[in-house]
Amino acid sequence: MTDLAQELATVLLSEEEIQLRISDMAAQISADYAGIDRIYLVSVLKGAFIFTADLARNLDINHVVDFVAVSSYGRKGSQSGEVRLLMDLRQPIAGEHVLIVEDIVDSGKTIHYLVEALASRQPASLKTTAFVQKEREQLSVPVDYLGFKIPDVWVVGYGLDYAERFRTLPYVAELKKEVYTKK
Ligand code: PRP
Repeated sequence: MTDLAQELATVLLSEEEIQLRISDMAAQISADYAGIDRIYLVSVLKGAFIFTADLARNLDINHVVDFVAVSSYGRKGSQSGEVRLLMDLRQPIAGEHVLIVEDIVDSGKTIHYLVEALASRQPASLKTTAFVQKEREQLSVPVDYLGFKIPDVWVVGYGLDYAERFRTLPYVAELKKEVYTKK
């Protein structure tokens, strides 16, 4: 194991804060969807797998969990990067109450793409939830249930990675700039 303090700056969201917020979000979602048959959670791999698991386990309503994977090619640091679907849902979602579950809204391109793509499949309803949203210029995308707003810095933990590292930290921390700027 490496010494995390050498690579991570401040902790932005503690484990306790995260768990409390997710429990509140799940209560709100459960109340809003009360009375429907089930909701269909569309989790966006890879980053959202931890948020999805905690959120789903806190829901008091019937739910199905399914996954999509999208390409990140050309997105980081680029305005022109386009989003492509790499792995589709297992089932059709026509007539389902769909909730897209994202870990982070950064430029907004991924969630924007998914809302458009899934809306065309005739779901009964379509909403979005994101664990965190960066405070920066981004495509205007409605996030119906947002966990936290965060500053525009590189964050890791709770599903978010740097070169596949740090995803399973139970808290969210800022990555030191020298880590991602060094060659
Ligand atoms: C991250 C994150 C979101 C997306 C958000 O995915 O999981 O899906 O970027 O960025 P955007 O708002 O600018 O589109 P990433 O490409 O890092 O893949 P990963 O989840 O597999 O780590």
